[in-house]
Amino acid sequence: MKLVKLLANLGYGSRKEVQRLIRSGAVTDDAGLVLGENDVPPHCRIRFRGELLDPPAPLVIMLNKPDGYTCSSEDPGSTIYDLLPPRFAQRNPGLNPIGRLDKDTTGLLLMTDDGKLLHKIIHPKSNCLKVYHAHLDRPLDGHEGELFASGTLVLNSESRPLLPAKLEVLGEKEALVTLHEGRYHQVRRMFAATGNHVTGLGRVSIGGFIMPTGLKEGQWQVLEPEQLASVFA
Ligand code: URA
Repeated sequence: MKLVKLLANLGYGSRKEVQRLIRSGAVTDDAGLVLGENDVPPHCRIRFRGELLDPPAPLVIMLNKPDGYTCSSEDPGSTIYDLLPPRFAQRNPGLNPIGRLDKDTTGLLLMTDDGKLLHKIIHPKSNCLKVYHAHLDRPLDGHEGELFASGTLVLNSESRPLLPAKLEVLGEKEALVTLHEGRYHQVRRMFAATGNHVTGLGRVSIGGFIMPTGLKEGQWQVLEPEQLASVFA
């Protein structure tokens, strides 16, 4: 791919702006040699103002989503895109969340610019289980596990029962819930069906991939190939 197109696709500017940047000497190789529009060294050797270029497509990142951020790029309030470098919003192909989280849900969010991969992960056939850590308003009454596992629970305003889900009690008002699907506000509505209320919800894992403890709220990282493979494990 030509240098102008490559940098424009990575969000460094419009084609015109990138052309200007290249002509001004902002793009070099790792030895500091200024690159021209027709130079195309390997991606890892290109520097923009001395910094490594962002990774090319296909890209998968993990984000530890904080409370108060929506997963929609259209939202006028704070969005997950505000947590990434501004040029990421200009990438082509763009990064999309792999299964959204509610505005007030925290934790593991994967994002990718690879449509096929996105569909593969969210498709029920892949069976990428999602685990959520829920904090509750009232103590569990002891029947939730059986109800969630039954495969007969029908949420308010729906007709199709939920697939069986697993509940692991962590405390009087705290539990892990493992889901095979991702319906709208699913965990909150499951507990609402038991007369309880979720006061805090965070996603812990997707498939076999558990969010690293070192990834603080609001931080993101590129998902390494072996981490991506563990999603399907
Ligand atoms: N279930 C919910 O209720 N909310 C989420 O964000 C994810 C699962």
